[in-house]
Amino acid sequence: MLKFSERTKGAKRSAIRELLKYTEQPEVISFAGGLPDPATFPVDFLAKVAAEEILYNYLKSLQYTTTEGKRPLREALVRWLAEEGIKATMDEIVITNGSQQGLDLVGRVFLDPGDGVFVSLPTYLGALQAFRAYQPTLVGIPLEEDGMDLECLRRAIHEVRKRGHTPKLIYVIPDFQNPTGITWSEEKRQELLKIAEEEDLLIVEDIPYRWLRYRGEPIPTIASLDESGRVLVLLTFSKILAAGLRVGALVAPQEVVNMVVTMKQGADLCGPSLTQRLVVRFLTDYDIHNHIARLCQHYKTKLEAMLRALEEHMPEEAEWTKPDGGLFVWVKLPEPADTTKMLERALTRRVAYVPGQPFFADGSGLNTMRLSFALASREEIEEGIRRLGIVVKEELAALSLAQRG
Ligand SMILES: Cc1ncc(COP(=O)(O)O)c(C=O)c1O
Repeated sequence: MLKFSERTKGAKRSAIRELLKYTEQPEVISFAGGLPDPATFPVDFLAKVAAEEILYNYLKSLQYTTTEGKRPLREALVRWLAEEGIKATMDEIVITNGSQQGLDLVGRVFLDPGDGVFVSLPTYLGALQAFRAYQPTLVGIPLEEDGMDLECLRRAIHEVRKRGHTPKLIYVIPDFQNPTGITWSEEKRQELLKIAEEEDLLIVEDIPYRWLRYRGEPIPTIASLDESGRVLVLLTFSKILAAGLRVGALVAPQEVVNMVVTMKQGADLCGPSLTQRLVVRFLTDYDIHNHIARLCQHYKTKLEAMLRALEEHMPEEAEWTKPDGGLFVWVKLPEPADTTKMLERALTRRVAYVPGQPFFADGSGLNTMRLSFALASREEIEEGIRRLGIVVKEELAALSLAQRG
C-alpha cells in the first residue's frame, strides 16, 4: 500500500491540463489553454545565441549555476524592474523555473497548515494548486471590475483570525488577470497596500501579463507603491519571450530571498544555466522594447477580433470582459448555465474553451468560461466564436425549456 503524505490529499490535477487533450483535435478551434502564440517567439535570435552560448560559453551555459540564478541575469533584471518603478537590488532577486516555481516557493517558505491565503474569485488555477499543497485556509474574495472587493477582504481577514488561523498572504494578478483580463485601479492598489500594512500581511504580486498592454496607460505596480517591503513580485519570460525556457524571478526583500534560496536548494539546486544565459542575451542584445511593441500589436488585433465576434454572435444574456491587455476574455452566462457540461456540446460543434469553475477557490463560477485569443488566427477567432454563439444559444434554450418544464 502506498502511503502518500497528508499534503497530497487535497491535491487535484489541473482540470485545464486534462481538458487540453480533447481540444487538440485539428478540427477543433480552441480558446482553451493559456499558451502564448509561438509566432511571437524570436526563433532566429534564440537559435543564434543558443549556438554561441553552447560553443563559446559552455563553461557558464552548460555548468551548474548558483541557486540565486546567474548574476548577469539578476543585474539585467534590476534595470528592467527599474523601468517599472520597482527598486530592487541584485540580492533581492532569485531566478525561478517560471513564476510557477515562485508560487510554490512562496508557499514553502510562508505557509503552515491553516494559514490564511486570500485570492480573488476567480484566480489563476496554478496558484491555487501551488498553495493547496501547503494546506492553507484558502479564502476567495469577489473580483470587481477594478480589482478585489476590499471591504470583503478586510472582513475575511478578521474572520480567519477569529477562527484561530494566521492570515499570511494576499495573492493578486493586478494587470490583465488570468482568467478574467481585469486590471486593478491605482486606488485599489493603494488601498490593498494599506490593508496589508494594517493587518500585517504579505502581498504576492504576479505580473506575467504586465507587458502585454494594448490600450491605455500602465498603472503603477503595487510593488512600486510599497514602502514597507511587504510585496513579493513574481515575473516571468514565458509570455514575452518563450514559455519553454522556464525562466522567471521572485523579487522580494533580501531576508525573504535568502529563505527562498535555502528552500530552493533542496528543490532543484539551481535553475537551468543555458536558458538563463539566453534570457541575459535577450535583455542585453535584443531590442526588447521593439519586440514587446510587436507582441502587443500581434495580440491586439486578435483581442479586437474576439470582442467584435462576441458582440456579433453571443446572445444578449451573455456578458464578457473587455480587457486592455493580456491573453484572456472572460464570459459569464446567466445562472444556472453549467459551462463544464456545455463543453461536450461545444466539442461536438468543434470549439473549445476552459470552464470557469476550477478558477474559483470556493467551487462557484459554474456559469463562467475563459477564452484565450492568443493561439487562434483572426479567421479562426471569428469562426470559433460563431460556433460558440450557437452552443451558448442552444444551452440557454435548453435551460429555459427545462425551467418551464
Ligand atoms: C497568473 C499566472 N501566474 C503564473 C503563471 C506561470 O507561468 P510560468 O511558470 O510559465 O512563468 C501563469 C501562466 O499561465 C499565469 O497565468
